[in-house]
Amino acid sequence: MITKIKGTQDIMPEECVKWQEVEQIIRQVSRLYNFSEIRTPIFEATEIYHRGTGEGTDIVKKETYDFLDRGERQITLRPEGTPGIVRSIIENKLYTTSPLPLKLFYVGPMFRYERPQKGRQRQFHQFGAEAIGSADPMLDAEMIAYAATFLAALGLHSVLVKVNSIGDRDSQVAYAKALKDFLYPEKEHLCPDCQRRLDSNPMRVLDCKVDIDNPLLKNAPKPLDFLSEAAQAHFNSVLDYLKAMGVAHKVEPNLVRGLDYYTHTVFELEADIPGMGAQSTLCGGGRYDRLSETLDGPNLPSVGFAFGLERLLIARDKINIETQAAFIHAFLIVLGEKPKARAMAIARSLRHGGIVTDMDFQDRSLKGKFKQGERLNPYFYLIFGEDELNEESIMVKQVKTGTQEKVSLDQLYRYLVDCLRAETPCSGHCENCESDC
Ligand code: HAM
Repeated sequence: MITKIKGTQDIMPEECVKWQEVEQIIRQVSRLYNFSEIRTPIFEATEIYHRGTGEGTDIVKKETYDFLDRGERQITLRPEGTPGIVRSIIENKLYTTSPLPLKLFYVGPMFRYERPQKGRQRQFHQFGAEAIGSADPMLDAEMIAYAATFLAALGLHSVLVKVNSIGDRDSQVAYAKALKDFLYPEKEHLCPDCQRRLDSNPMRVLDCKVDIDNPLLKNAPKPLDFLSEAAQAHFNSVLDYLKAMGVAHKVEPNLVRGLDYYTHTVFELEADIPGMGAQSTLCGGGRYDRLSETLDGPNLPSVGFAFGLERLLIARDKINIETQAAFIHAFLIVLGEKPKARAMAIARSLRHGGIVTDMDFQDRSLKGKFKQGERLNPYFYLIFGEDELNEESIMVKQVKTGTQEKVSLDQLYRYLVDCLRAETPCSGHCENCESDC
């Protein structure tokens, strides 16, 4: 038997309902913050990730899916969205045609060759957002607020917002030197990877998954102690704006994030939900003021974040958030051969009027047909046999009340709409709700 590839997942229809709800909330909250959707390719030139995400990162060193296509091009399945979005903005010169900052969000699959476990896959999905073209610390706070609003809209309230600053280029150079000086004499107490990182990219040591509890790292100098005056002022403003908006947060001095493009503010949103374990980081993000120039674009200081959708779904399951069960409005049961053609026309016209309709496509007994309908959770059964065909009528059975009534075909649509309206009363938010909403 051919099976799915390790680290991938089939998302079955009953799970898809949960995904759709999360995706709907992504769109609602993104609209509130006035972010528009962008869709970029799931593969890009390998060089984009080497230059963007960074040669020194675990992602580029160990986790990318790389291949040569038939035209001998070096291609990579995207491990994250940010470099591809920035490439697209540069290539399409979006910064010349739209006001800055550009505010874009995206949803889609990403690929990382990691060791799979619950909440960590080789194909996973991200909801990301990028605000491109402003260095204002208001925007850092705005993005953190956007991410926090999204989690609240999902019903995830037990969340820790961790923020830190790794500063501008000057701060990072000063910090890298101090960290190297501190760790070098104790080099042998670090894992082999970190010993190498110490020479190439010392800050990555703080992000090591092996040395996570190493006391040496707990006592190491922190980026916050090496911020330039400008970087400190930027971070202070971000914290002030968060406070003003009432976004609860904690400064986490060891937070550096695992991608090379960050400058100034970095942040993570962590679920405080028992059982999430190592996969409790739902969102990671930060400011990346130099990425556009690294990819040969203009100076476009930016800030963004990304959520892992699988982890959001696990978190919602853990706290038992129920998604509304899938349902249909009407299930049509056709009895006999003759009424079939008319029944199909009825189903089609109901659908045109917005009534979600399905019918049985097998020759089953009446009992079998009801059983088939039951699985689809309908509001109504519509029973249509030869008598009804001759009388221009149809039997309507309401599942909830059990009432059964013969309705003439020309009244059917109105009848169903009236019943459904009684079932879900108008919220009173539409203009004409008293007459015909
Ligand atoms: P990241 O921290 O690498 O950041 O990933 C963001 C989120 O994606 C993680 O917090 C996690 O929820 C999810 N994630 C990452 N890897 C996996 C995996 N193997 N399986 C399941 N979920 C995973 C970025 O990707 C940056 N592009 C974020 C960003 C946007 N920074 C600025 N703009």
